[in-house]
Amino acid sequence: MSLPVFPEIDAARAAWDLSSISLAEMDEAGLAQLRARFVSKKGEIPALMRNLGKLPQEDRPAYGAAVQTLRETVEGSLDAAEAAVRDAALTLRLERETLDVSLDGADSAAGSLHPLQALRDELLDLFVSMGFEIADAPELDTEWFNFSALNVPDDHPARDMQDTFFVERKEGEEPVVLRTHTSNFQPHAMRDRKPPFRLINCGPVFRCDADATHAPMFYQIEGVVVDRTTNFANLKATLYTMVRSMFGEKAQLRFRPSFFPFTEPSAEMDVDCRSAGLDRDGWMEIGGCGMIHPNVLRNGGIDPDQFQGFAFGFGLDRMTMLRHGAKDIFLLSAGDMRFLKQFRGLA
Ligand code: FA5
Repeated sequence: MSLPVFPEIDAARAAWDLSSISLAEMDEAGLAQLRARFVSKKGEIPALMRNLGKLPQEDRPAYGAAVQTLRETVEGSLDAAEAAVRDAALTLRLERETLDVSLDGADSAAGSLHPLQALRDELLDLFVSMGFEIADAPELDTEWFNFSALNVPDDHPARDMQDTFFVERKEGEEPVVLRTHTSNFQPHAMRDRKPPFRLINCGPVFRCDADATHAPMFYQIEGVVVDRTTNFANLKATLYTMVRSMFGEKAQLRFRPSFFPFTEPSAEMDVDCRSAGLDRDGWMEIGGCGMIHPNVLRNGGIDPDQFQGFAFGFGLDRMTMLRHGAKDIFLLSAGDMRFLKQFRGLA
């Protein structure tokens, strides 16, 4: 029995054979064009399947199989050619960026601060000039300090495995997490000192989160002020000073009512991009703040009838992105010299 002949499949195969003669010499754009022409949703090979209904029932399996075989051949060749293009680009880049670490460095360009580090230093200097003291808090902390002491209910979604990196513990041991925010600093600060105090903490925090503006490890800066009279106006003045030192005197801020279990009232703070000198419209959220909740003061061993306070927590990576117009947060941690070289001026 002779196999059925499908002229339209033969024609598509012939067109592919002709177009792919110099596949090995093609660049990324040429390969993308071929992919679009032959195998994309609207490409020539998927279009062949539309003929299936017009064929006699007995020919359909052979027709479907022939289209599928052609599709696999084309996709396989394109995958291999694209991988070769990627490998060649990587080899070239590695050759160009090879660094001989045994050289003494006399001829190399001077290093400079990472933009995130530069902003961190600048902000810490500013807060010290406003009477804040820099203090530490653990990056690996108990669930109690990271959540419970901060009045976060046991069933709060932020405690979910999705957001929080829990550390493996033995049965009965106190749960430990990679801190999800610098706010774990608040109860530590309160337990370690007697009020009044103004403290600032800056460091890495961790969340199971990743897209262009969310990284699984990012930096926050947290301020905690506790005394007998401090109030929301003081909080606003502090944050205006911070934002205007970074983005200039004309920068406009907006406080939006919000909810955090550890502050009451709470607000989120946005910066108006245009007034901050940035080349884009709209508001960008950079952090949260509020008056410290009485339960948090109590958990920190401070009498809320005697003392009150405010706290704020800001995303340093977001502020760095805003400042330099970077669109992808992962540029900050990629260690790519092409990005980092642009910040040579930062002292
Ligand atoms: C908090 O983390 C609160 N602890 C802030 C706070 C402190 C409120 C003190 C009140 C008092 P939030 O989850 O919104 O809030 O994060 C604060 C900022 O961190 C965000 O505005 C954003 O700038 C930054 N941020 C949050 N998630 C990410 C992420 N995955 N990657 C980069 N930046 C992030």
